[in-house]
Amino acid sequence: MINYKKEISNLILNILSIDENEIYENISLIKEKDKGDYTFPCFTLSKKLKKSPKEISDYLKEKIIIPNFIEKIESVNGYLNFYLNKEELTKAVFKEFDEKGYDYGKSKIGLGKTVLIEYSSPNIAKPFHIGHLRTTVIGHALYNIYKFLGYNTISINHLGDYGTQFGKLIEAYKLWGNEYDLENNSMDQMVQMYVRINKLCSEDEQVLERCRENFRLLESKDKYCVEIWNKFKTLSMEEFKKIYDILNINFDSYKGEASYASSMDEIISKLESKGKITESEGAKIVNLDNEGISTPCIVQKANGSSIYATRDLAAIIYRAKTYDYDKSIYVTGCEQDLHFKQIFAVAKYLDLDEKYINGLTHVSYGMYRLKEGKMSTRQGNFIKLEDILNESILKAKEIIREKNPDLENIDDTAKKVGIGAVIFSDLYNSRIKDEVFDIDTMLSFQGETSPYIQYMYVRINSIIKKSSQNVLLKDINYSKLSDEQTYSIVKLLYNFTDIVIDSSTKNEPYILSRYLIDLAKNYSIFYNQNKVLSDDIDERNARLYLINIVGNVLKSGCELLGIQMPDKM
Ligand code: ARG
Repeated sequence: MINYKKEISNLILNILSIDENEIYENISLIKEKDKGDYTFPCFTLSKKLKKSPKEISDYLKEKIIIPNFIEKIESVNGYLNFYLNKEELTKAVFKEFDEKGYDYGKSKIGLGKTVLIEYSSPNIAKPFHIGHLRTTVIGHALYNIYKFLGYNTISINHLGDYGTQFGKLIEAYKLWGNEYDLENNSMDQMVQMYVRINKLCSEDEQVLERCRENFRLLESKDKYCVEIWNKFKTLSMEEFKKIYDILNINFDSYKGEASYASSMDEIISKLESKGKITESEGAKIVNLDNEGISTPCIVQKANGSSIYATRDLAAIIYRAKTYDYDKSIYVTGCEQDLHFKQIFAVAKYLDLDEKYINGLTHVSYGMYRLKEGKMSTRQGNFIKLEDILNESILKAKEIIREKNPDLENIDDTAKKVGIGAVIFSDLYNSRIKDEVFDIDTMLSFQGETSPYIQYMYVRINSIIKKSSQNVLLKDINYSKLSDEQTYSIVKLLYNFTDIVIDSSTKNEPYILSRYLIDLAKNYSIFYNQNKVLSDDIDERNARLYLINIVGNVLKSGCELLGIQMPDKM
């Protein structure tokens, strides 16, 4: 589709001989109504050209020969404002939809580049908690977004399947394995075992020593310990899979931390050869003062075991070699900000290509809290995510049943609405903001929620179905689409790709979420003021074609966020 920013930048470049980027980057969309569509502020050029901004914008307005796609240009106090030709814009959007259909908005800007997105990464034998929901939802949205833009995208679940706690779990299993029904309710059982063994360890130093010994045995691949560890891993994966199934998520790799433990020696000797290792109370650390980080990174424990950070360093080397990535994104809570600063800094000492270091990106997010009330206390200090998701599905079902008692397939719809609501509310604000998890707000059909978007989508579908028409591009009479509400929608539709690109460059899915709300709201205004199934056949065709694009963009946008669309609700 025509790139207006680019075209406008060319118009200016024809007149002024300055660097293209200086122009292109400064052109921005105008948000207010009736002030034009794009603006180019001339302030930064003022110094260079030794003229006032107003003089420059007046001059440009005089000189630019207005092409077809522009209706008029205005010079306002140093801003050069461009009004697009509405009909040309509408034609461009419609033509793009005619060519691409459901792929409308897809881009190839990422072609030939590989992006790794590591997210979710829960810990074995520990519950999948609400913080893990955030990484899962944000990471999955980013994964879809990058894919949509043509990147070769790989999702990685860096399972927390290693650490001294496994020594404890193995001991618990040895002592009380037959007391717990691990096949049923396995996560609860494992957590109970873990709590019980921790208590015993604090009372009995000998037990603690046996736990340590178990971990050493596990590290040296002792058959029995590995077997128990595998059992915990399988049971945990089954639990996690339930959640991934509800959310419709799959990973390209589930390579967990354990697989990196054996690379510790390689990392340590590399760092040693660079003179970066210092001993501190028996542990090996890397001082990062030179990198502006005052806390050193521990790379080996006093007892010789590998540590979280070392395993992450090994993963960086592995991923560079295996995937030759351009960008490697880690989605975790902000409590790990320091950890990632440290490992990204230490990674500089591992002889990796500059490209791999520059590609390391930590995408962090704020806390997610449950609204005070019954849900936060039900299970003591941990809440099963599965329960929360199921609760949302159940509530969605109640609401839908009330609105539409005869709906077929209500379970499927309730799932799409209930899960969608949880995902959307997680993605509606900038990641770093702390969030309160409140099912009632997120399920509202009127608020800034996914049920609202889904509802608009379903209504569009029902109008199209009712029309039982398949309108073709050649039947469109564009003069029927000249009203303001239509133009607002067309502009939003045009912006879809840019919005997705913006979400990717900032790694912020909320940019897309807000856009979808904006589109749904604009559609609702349009719908309330215009009859789609008008008696005027030209008007009817044009409007049907328009709302069909809206429906498609709402759907594909929601799917990028990980939300599925119901057919009816
Ligand atoms: N398993 C960790 C946790 O639950 C998250 C892992 C994050 N990824 C990483 N490469 N360190 O907190």
